[in-house]
Amino acid sequence: MTSQGYRIAVVGATGQVGTLMLKLLRERAFPAREIVPFASERSVGRELEGGLRVQGLSEESIQGFDIALFSAGGSTSGEWAPRFAAAGAVVIDNSSRWRMSEEVPLVVSEVNPEALDSHQGIIANPNCSTMQMVVALKPLHDEAGIERLVISTYQAVSGTGKAAVDELLDQAHALLHEREIEPPDAYAHQIAFNALPHAGSFAPGDDHTDEERKLINETRKILGDPDIAISATCVRVPVVNGHSEAVNVQTRRELTPQRARELLAAAPGIRVLDDPSASLYPLAIDATGEDDVFVGRIRRDPGHERALDLWIVADNLRKGAATNAVQLAELVHERGLVHGSGAAAAA
Ligand SMILES: NC(=O)c1ccc[n+]([C@@H]2O[C@H](COP(=O)([O-])OP(=O)(O)OC[C@H]3O[C@@H](n4cnc5c(N)ncnc54)[C@H](OP(=O)(O)O)[C@@H]3O)[C@@H](O)[C@H]2O)c1
Repeated sequence: MTSQGYRIAVVGATGQVGTLMLKLLRERAFPAREIVPFASERSVGRELEGGLRVQGLSEESIQGFDIALFSAGGSTSGEWAPRFAAAGAVVIDNSSRWRMSEEVPLVVSEVNPEALDSHQGIIANPNCSTMQMVVALKPLHDEAGIERLVISTYQAVSGTGKAAVDELLDQAHALLHEREIEPPDAYAHQIAFNALPHAGSFAPGDDHTDEERKLINETRKILGDPDIAISATCVRVPVVNGHSEAVNVQTRRELTPQRARELLAAAPGIRVLDDPSASLYPLAIDATGEDDVFVGRIRRDPGHERALDLWIVADNLRKGAATNAVQLAELVHERGLVHGSGAAAAA
């Protein structure tokens, strides 16, 4: 880093997550001397907030960066993340493309920051549903060892991208005005006033969606325990933003709800909202715009002496994507893990 800071690329800068990344880099005063937004050819030349102008990806335009934050889908990451890394940048990637690669650390800032130290140029940001869940599970796992999880998600449409948010709002508007809806495009079925047991997509021959597989595989990788048994059902609900999850946590050693509440209240990045008698529990609309993970409805599973039930909610675009990516950039800076191609280019 030069005395003026790092040179940063944001790839997917016109999208929901990319827009938020730009905002968070500014809000959190990340030490950047230059931020360059990239998007598809469709957006090249577009002016973004703060006067930044969108660039296209090319061998020339990607040179001289210290850090590249990617949120432009798996195929763009597959093609361009290794090129940015080869040109000297540390890549922090939001897509699923690199998450399960053995040489790529999959990191949540509060859970396994030490995994960053072994990075070889690309660092993966987990899937949004996994991210918020492991923040809440980590202190329980450290205390009592997690044996099995049974998870049901209630995932917002913003997790699918901007087009899906528009589709929900258009459908709701049409139905409230007693008009026919357009044929669904973002999802297999109407999402307005509905619940779809189909978040993500089904690979041929698989009876789980890729979203469910991500939740299972990424949770084991981040918590460093391949033996955790996990059952997951991912459901898309007509919520604009904020994922909710009902999680049944079976531990190896006994853990009371009161002790779990204390551990969660003391853990970084978590807020406990748990007073059901006052109708106090986490809600997607309250979590939206917040960086913390919210946990409530903490109670004993009456069907198992070593199991608890939790309700976990977070802003999927913030902690589930952009906030964690910027927190990882802060950690690679603090831990001295930036190679400094931008600095070298600027020197
Ligand atoms: N939404 C979430 O909750 C969430 C959570 C975790 C991870 N993610 C991941 O983050 C990524 C973006 O999600 P999003 O919700 O922000 O999607 P989005 O709103 O649809 O934005 C997609 C972004 O990618 C850019 N892009 C598309 N094709 C490109 C190409 N060929 N080359 C360069 N840029 C390209 C788009 O540019 P144009 O504007 O020019 O099309 C736009 O900036 C995805 O990989 C997603 O899986 C999302």
